[in-house]
Amino acid sequence: MAETFRETQLPIAKTDRYDALTAEVVAVLAGEPDRIARMATIAAMLAQAFDTFLWCGFYLVDPAKDDELVVGPYQGTLGCLRIAFGRGVCGAAALERRTLIVPDVANFPGHIACDARSRSEIVVPVLDPSGTLVAVLDIDSADLAAFDERDAAGLEAIVRQVFGAA
Ligand code: SME
Repeated sequence: MAETFRETQLPIAKTDRYDALTAEVVAVLAGEPDRIARMATIAAMLAQAFDTFLWCGFYLVDPAKDDELVVGPYQGTLGCLRIAFGRGVCGAAALERRTLIVPDVANFPGHIACDARSRSEIVVPVLDPSGTLVAVLDIDSADLAAFDERDAAGLEAIVRQVFGAA
């Protein structure tokens, strides 16, 4: 009985946390147009909200190259500076312009191990109001299979509300 209760309650709790966080992020960023300030604030708030997040932050599309990401605001240990489109999870998400959930990074060909403790990750594309890819949001965890569809929906809602069309 106890386990059934726990299993049915857990998904609701996670979704509720994202709903509350999205509202907080939108409130904190009201009136702030600077993209880097927005990204830095989101990275800090995500890191505070979920202690399972080992690394969280943004890789920006380098406007000088168009097919390369360069590190942006993040929280965590030292991240690699540049990632070509198509390389690693971030590069694949940028190329395919879709959210990627990787339950075990050891099974993802070409995964870039910036922090050897990383076991699973999720990467969400960030589009501007015109639909142009401007960055990806990358979150890594030291736990296997830390991310699921609830994380995808919650994170996509945050980036859509902050960077996308209103
Ligand atoms: N995990 C990423 C690389 C970036 S770091 O983990 C910060 C990837 O394989 O795309």
